[in-house]
Parts: sequence; structure tokens; C-alpha cells
Amino acid sequence: MQEQLTAIVAGVRDNAPNIQTRAEFEAFKATISGPNGTLTDVMKRMGEVPKEDKPAMGRCINQAKNSVTTAFDEVIARIEAMELAAKLGPAIDPTLPCPDLDRGTLHPISQVREEMIVLFRRIGFSVAEASEVETEHYCFDALNIPSDHPARDMQDSYYLPDDLKVNNVSKHADEKYLLRTHTSTVQIRSMLKQQPPIRIVAPGRCFRRDTPDATHSANFHQIEGLYVDKNVTLLDLKATLDHFVKTIFGPKAKTRLRPSFFPFTEPSFELDFLSPDLGKLSNKWLEVMGCGMVDPEVCKAGGIDPAVYTGYAFGMGIERIAMILQGVDDIRYYYQNDVRFLKQFA
Ligand code: DAH
Repeated sequence: MQEQLTAIVAGVRDNAPNIQTRAEFEAFKATISGPNGTLTDVMKRMGEVPKEDKPAMGRCINQAKNSVTTAFDEVIARIEAMELAAKLGPAIDPTLPCPDLDRGTLHPISQVREEMIVLFRRIGFSVAEASEVETEHYCFDALNIPSDHPARDMQDSYYLPDDLKVNNVSKHADEKYLLRTHTSTVQIRSMLKQQPPIRIVAPGRCFRRDTPDATHSANFHQIEGLYVDKNVTLLDLKATLDHFVKTIFGPKAKTRLRPSFFPFTEPSFELDFLSPDLGKLSNKWLEVMGCGMVDPEVCKAGGIDPAVYTGYAFGMGIERIAMILQGVDDIRYYYQNDVRFLKQFA
């Protein structure tokens, strides 16, 4: 029996290196330690061993079992390593240069925003910014927006929890925080920071509860303009916006101011433009922004005396301008991060 054991162990050691797969391993293992395996067979025959030889024989069997187990463990470890290597694929060299060497560019919305900022800077505007979290005071009250205005409804704006602490935006009274619904908030914040002359543009992100579709997104961008000084008139507004439209959409573009209503301007207008060189949109009046003369109540809320100063303001969606300029017919493309779309504007 001892010789048999020696032969079994030797057989296992000889065969182990040739085993390549789990199936081969299981089949081989069965011939040794399975119900009809050679090692099992030796153990079954312990009964035939004379009593006095039993302890020595038992030790031999244990030794043989240990040797077989060790050999099997090595085989399994080797197979697992092969399986892992197959899953990982060929080795990579992390020191090689990246295969995609294209340089990134500004997002199309950022490109249009930059173009507008450059334009307004050239004619004396500076860039002002304020926070995206706002209080009802700056978003509505100070802008003369009445308490029954739809934007003030929970269903139309993103209000924040009452117990929220925002260290850099302080509340005036018992009011709520919300995500700003327009960049007009920056009008008030700029007026409170400095006396006229004030000439700023304020680009930034705004938020409204909208179901996304081709022209609506709950998160979008606006650019606001404000000019307050002595003797600012509607003519200044019209000339500035005319210059804006001609620079962005080409010198042949025409503009018109159409009477409208905003609580924070009086009188208020929509600015439309028409261009002969706009592809499908050529020669159609397109509405691009709201504007008007700053309402005296808004001046007061901004700490400016409306008897001394007048001003104009305008506000527009950057996406709207970008869509017209770039020929994009669905606002959602701008937010999907599809490189095939973005690359067209690189
Ligand atoms: N805040 C307005 C909106 O989001 C846009 C606007 C209209 C801004 C007229 C202005 C303005 O500054 O004068 O719809």
C-alpha cells in the first residue's frame, strides 16, 4: 500500500503541470480523491491493515493526502492566474502617450458667452457676478415682482429647505432661499455695491422648474445688462442693443423694440431682430431678449436716487442666442455631452 501511495503522489506531481483548465482539473481530481479515486481506494483498504501497522499506515496516508492537496492547490492557483490574465487582456504600457491627442475646446455655450462678454467689454461694460442661491428679496421683491407673480410659486421655482444655512447670502427677513430664476438679481446686488455710473453685464446660470423639451431646460444661462447714470435714455438702450445684434448676427441685421411688460422696467420691451443671412431663420423677426428702462422702484431698492439717475437693463438667454447662431434646434444637445455634437463647434 505504501508503494501505491508513493506512486499516487508521484503521478499527481507528474500530471499537475499539464492541467490547463478547471474541467481538466476536476476530471483529474476525481481519479485521485473522487469516490472511485486511487487515493480513496487506498483509504478504503485501511481495514485490511493489521492493527499494529495501522498508526504508521495512517501517517503515510495523511502525508500522501497533504502532498496531493498541496499539488492541487498549486494547480488551482495557476488556473486562476491564467483566467485573470485572459480577462485583463494583453499587458498595457502606461508610459505610452495617450492615443487621443485632440485638444479640448470651450463648450459651445461658453463660446457664445465669451463672444458676448468681449463685445460688451469693448463698449465699457464690466463683468459682475453673484451667487446662484438667492433670497426671495433679491430674486423678486427688490425687482418689484409682486407676490402673485407665477415665478414665486413653488411649482415654478426651486425653493431650498427652510433650515438651510448659506453663509455668503444673508436673508433680509423671514424669507426663503431659492435658486435664482434669472440673472436680474445681479442688478440689485451691483447697485448696492456702487453708486452710478454702473455699466455691467452679468452672465450666469439660472434655474426654473421646467419639463425639458426642445426649447426648455430646468437649468440654463442668461446674460444680464445694466447701465445706470445721469441722463441715460431709451436711445442709449436701442443703440447698444443694435450694436450687439449687428456684431453677433452680422451688419445686415435689423432690430426692433416691441412694447412688453416686466415688473422691473418701465417702459419694457422685447427686442426682435431680423437677418437676411440666417439660413432657415432668414428674414423672420426673432425675439431675443427682454429690456427696458430701470423702474424707479428698482433704483430705490438698489439704494440709488431715481430723481437723479436713470438706467436701462436687458436680459437674454445665452442658449437662445447660441441656438440661432449655431443652427441648433434642440436645447438638450448642449447638455448631453455627446462629443460628436460638441466637436462641430471646436
Ligand atoms: N429677467 C427676465 C427674464 O428672465 C429678462 C429680462 C427682461 C431682464 C427685461 C431684464 C429686463 O433686465 O430689463 O425673463
